[in-house]
Amino acid sequence: MVDDELQFSGETADVVVVGGGVIGLAIARALALHGVPDVMLIERARLGAEASSAAAGILGPQAEANQADEFFELACQSRDLYPAFSAALKEESGIDIELDQTGTLYLAFTEKDEVEIAQRYEWQTGAGYEVERLTSAEALMFEPSISTKTRSALRFPRDMQVENRRLVAALASANEQLGVRLVTGCDVRSLKTERGRVVAVETSPGSIATTTVIIAAGAWSSFITIPDILPPPVRIEPVRGQMLCFETNPRLARHVIYSPRGYLVPRQDGRLLAGATSEHAGFDKQVTAAGVRALTEQSIEMLPGLSKAPLIDSWAGLRPHATDDRPVLGKCPEVEGLIYATGHYRNGILLAPITGELIAETVMSGRSSPLMDSFTPDRFRLASVG
Ligand code: GLY
Repeated sequence: MVDDELQFSGETADVVVVGGGVIGLAIARALALHGVPDVMLIERARLGAEASSAAAGILGPQAEANQADEFFELACQSRDLYPAFSAALKEESGIDIELDQTGTLYLAFTEKDEVEIAQRYEWQTGAGYEVERLTSAEALMFEPSISTKTRSALRFPRDMQVENRRLVAALASANEQLGVRLVTGCDVRSLKTERGRVVAVETSPGSIATTTVIIAAGAWSSFITIPDILPPPVRIEPVRGQMLCFETNPRLARHVIYSPRGYLVPRQDGRLLAGATSEHAGFDKQVTAAGVRALTEQSIEMLPGLSKAPLIDSWAGLRPHATDDRPVLGKCPEVEGLIYATGHYRNGILLAPITGELIAETVMSGRSSPLMDSFTPDRFRLASVG
């Protein structure tokens, strides 16, 4: 439903999902698949308009993690759901999300880089995860266009990538097929509560009566006012990521390629994404000269041939960031019927399948999986008390 003249009058829903990025869409789809009859998703702009489209689609928990902890476990489990998730979405929507299982290469150019990758190799092999240690010559055999200044590398054969804009389209279409009401261009302003439980969502075109609300509004999550709780229990702030897009024809690489300074993501159609900055710049989504310079330098360090490639696009997105870098998943202890699924920070695309499943399970059963224990919203309340 996309309607500038939208007005709600006597509207109801079993569950309202606030936010139409991949997290909200994955949750709405999972709820519908689990048989919740009347799911409404409300998005302030267009579906996937923000971080979901700005992302690079890397499903690389092993390349990015510094330790084996509950977050690493959650991220690896979500990555491993992707082959079945992708096949199911193809079935439901007819859209191929271009899941690519070539793997990730992590390149070291300096002594310090080599120390970093050696540590990553040690703890991941110790924890039983698959990772290969490569000499410079071996890395060049996998990717002949990488810099000959590569001193050594790691290869993570189980890491993947996905075309995140196609993922948005596939999830949107799957939701439509499943009967989820998708409302765009509609601001959710506040929740209405009675005796400590949700009774309605207040939006720009009116009120929707409901007993279950899921806040999956990414960097905008903290703008929704919740009566009786001030300040809001969860604070999410935007962290800007600038991205460049080059055209490579023929393709210069097949793996997602990292160095400690950035990453490159080769798409099937010859586009090659280069990311990303990490900046506290409020809600400003501009691409800056400093951003373009830093991204260009770190990209050419990895793939020197890029210096001749046309720069065809650039953009910036806003990662939703909680103070401890972790996602916020689960029931709000102060308000019955309110559930958070936000703060996915650098990992929204990666965590979409598992977030959908975990939140749907929480709604259906009233209980949260132990996998969510480290990510509950009440950790902020406990932190402020302690
Ligand atoms: N996941 C990569 C990034 O946020 O830049």
